[in-house]
Amino acid sequence: MDKNILVTGGAGYIGSHTCVELINQGFNVIVVDNLVNSSEISLDRIKQITGIRPKFYNADIRDKDAMEKIFSENEIDSVIHFAGLKAVGESVRIPLTYYDNNIYGTLVLLDVMSKHNVKKIVFSSSATVYGSPERLPIDEECRLSTTNPYGSTKLYLEGILKDLYVSDNEWKVILLRYFNPVGAHESGLIGEDPKGIPNNLTPFIAKVAAGKLEKVNVFGNDYDTPDGTGVRDYIHVVDLALGHIKAIEKINDPGVYIYNLGTGNGYSVLDVIKAFEKACGHAIPYVIAPRRPGDIAACYAKADKAEKELGWTAKLGIDEMCSSLWNWQSKNPDGYNTKK
Ligand code: NAD
Ligand code: UFG
Repeated sequence: MDKNILVTGGAGYIGSHTCVELINQGFNVIVVDNLVNSSEISLDRIKQITGIRPKFYNADIRDKDAMEKIFSENEIDSVIHFAGLKAVGESVRIPLTYYDNNIYGTLVLLDVMSKHNVKKIVFSSSATVYGSPERLPIDEECRLSTTNPYGSTKLYLEGILKDLYVSDNEWKVILLRYFNPVGAHESGLIGEDPKGIPNNLTPFIAKVAAGKLEKVNVFGNDYDTPDGTGVRDYIHVVDLALGHIKAIEKINDPGVYIYNLGTGNGYSVLDVIKAFEKACGHAIPYVIAPRRPGDIAACYAKADKAEKELGWTAKLGIDEMCSSLWNWQSKNPDGYNTKK
């Protein structure tokens, strides 16, 4: 079994949860992260949960010398590649930064991997590559398109990884298309720690529930959905992390394999607010606001390919997603900066 896994972006939200599950399964984890959107405290918390602090390189994946050093100093078997910028709105404002960070960064990583003969990679893609979905539920064969530079970086990188395999049939590539990752580890020690006012629904709701923001703006109630508000496939971040373990365990045959990681269930914005009220035990104020430009009505996965081929399904439901997020929010009102 492969033992040494390099996790790029391992100090971040999904990366830190994946490090915990990798360590729990006995893998040796090495993290590279430049902390542009995370805190090194997450690594201390991983140690509190698992007893092991991953070996950490504070480096930018675009820094070829630093990447060379990491691959020279460690016998890396495979890479799970999370490092990237992910804010849709920001990507519209500063597209070149997104292309440089996400695409050029990945090119450097792949080049150094090739030189060191490490040819196994699990890549964080996103349901955003389905654009405005051709059909629901969304299967892996649906037409691909993007509506913003962030999404384009994901779609281009999928194409680059496919081209790489065509050029060298030794590569083993797994593209995981995540739906909407939410929630936190049950310990409440690691979780999502967005800088400033959150863009995404569940961290925003959590801040309203904690009294740090006044009310939730529900972006539109006139969509063609059961209650008129947007529907998404929310997936617990621990389930998502476990999907990466399955991918790493199955990455044995050369080729490019693509899997949706979602639950297959769609919940509306109002459903999520209701579930969160149950989790935190009090009402959450909200108002109906205009639609957010670029949003789609509904997005949820057909998730059976991952079940059939990876033996993975999401186990945790919306109540666990909300209660674990509330636990994280309550224990860390200011995220990793919370004074203890
Ligand atoms: P995150 O921002 O918490 O984690 C990304 C990590 O990568 C951060 O720790 C950041 O500091 C690091 N990073 C960014 N650029 C880097 C660089 N050039 N060099 C080194 N480190 C760098 O985000 P996340 O939610 O954990 O997302 C992880 C991956 O999953 C990203 O690629 C993201 O695009 C993808 N994804 C996320 C979602 C989501 O909703 N959270 C959905 C689909 C896909
Ligand atoms: N929403 C609100 N109010 C808010 C925030 C969001 O009503 O304050 C609504 C949105 O309109 C949408 C739903 O809540 O209907 C979910 O919105 P998010 O911003 O949480 O998530 P998105 O589905 O828009 O996008 C997320 C990631 C993308 C990723 C996509 C698919 O932010 O990067 O999931 O994986 F591409």
